[in-house]
Amino acid sequence: MSSKIHYESGLGNYISTEVVKNTLPLGQNSPQKVAHGLYAEQINGSAFTAPRARNLRSWMYRILPSAVHSEFKPYKHSSWQSFPINDQQSPLQLRWDPFPFPKIDVNLIDSVTTYCGNGNLKMNVGCAVHMYSCNESMKDYFSNADGQMLFVPQEGALLLATEMGQLEVSPNEIAVIPRGIKFKAELLGKNARGYICENYGSPFQLPELGPIGANGLANARDFKIPTAWFEDTKKTVRWITKFGGNFWSSELKQSPLNVVGWHGNYYPYKYNLNDFNTIGSISFDHPDPSIFTVLTSPSVDTGTANIDFVIFPPRWLVGENTFRPPYYHRNYMSEFMGLIHGEYDAKKEGFLPGGASLHNRMSGHGPDAITFENASAENLKPQKIENTMAFMFESQYPFDVTPSPLNSGLLQKNYLSCWKDLKPQYK
Ligand SMILES: [Fe+2]
Repeated sequence: MSSKIHYESGLGNYISTEVVKNTLPLGQNSPQKVAHGLYAEQINGSAFTAPRARNLRSWMYRILPSAVHSEFKPYKHSSWQSFPINDQQSPLQLRWDPFPFPKIDVNLIDSVTTYCGNGNLKMNVGCAVHMYSCNESMKDYFSNADGQMLFVPQEGALLLATEMGQLEVSPNEIAVIPRGIKFKAELLGKNARGYICENYGSPFQLPELGPIGANGLANARDFKIPTAWFEDTKKTVRWITKFGGNFWSSELKQSPLNVVGWHGNYYPYKYNLNDFNTIGSISFDHPDPSIFTVLTSPSVDTGTANIDFVIFPPRWLVGENTFRPPYYHRNYMSEFMGLIHGEYDAKKEGFLPGGASLHNRMSGHGPDAITFENASAENLKPQKIENTMAFMFESQYPFDVTPSPLNSGLLQKNYLSCWKDLKPQYK
């Protein structure tokens, strides 16, 4: 999709951007009088004292500071759940049909429906996994104090207008809005559907590359960061914020997207999954899918993520004497999967774009019977997997499933039967 929006690039870069010339103060952050009659406001995405490499903050120069708003009133959201919840975890493998498009007019935030989650948002641990499906642009503004939001659009492009600028994000791209940043989502088509990971833990970052070297997987330069943009609307608007698992609304006398210039390293960003430099085996065996990690939210347990965002992009399969689809698996980590388009190479049928599956900790999963049969017999020539993009939210904490997706009618009652034709072949 062509776009007139200008972006900066390079995840982790320090960005300075202004709409009006000479907005950003030189040599200091908080002068006695800010240029153009603006207010200076810092937003900290980490503790002041976080190590320099993980310290996130930006300075905004805005028409009004964020403290200016009316009293909060509770806002009812019936389908967005926060964790922990009291429901029992199950080891059963689960799979869902595609999340439907809405039958009523609904915007993105109101359409958010929680599938599963883990951890504890008040302890900054874990995440929630949601789906959205909407047909209206947001009129209200929204921010989330409980976590950062990773959007994985599956259908329909979005324009995410944020305090720090605009991001246009289409299916096969992802966008991340940091904790606390206000935004509204406009639809660029008739409908929009996709997945959201609400990350309560450490902000997503690029994974370490180890012996892969200095380049590869998602390269920092391919991430796009919005440049300053603002709206100076004087009409009263509503701002909805999620805080402590509850929703609150408040009135503002003008749009909160009133930042004329900003500088810092705390910002939203987007990334095109086609830019992923996919690395895999050129000898034998299917590599562990950690090789496909785009972003990771680390935990204090080294190498054991709070949440990883992993993709299964187009790639060449050349392994010799190798069962090429994903191997059969039980995992310490718990795996929520979605499909953006195409077919996932472990499942011949049943796993569809807009659908989902969940394989919780130590639950057996892997190719369905027909995929096993075909892959065990195929002539192993180099083969390209094309026209597909599946992804996984993988967490060290088992997922609790909320009642709604268990009772929605989308849950596939016969998912286990995809493995029932696997028979003992031992001789
Ligand atoms: Fe797995």
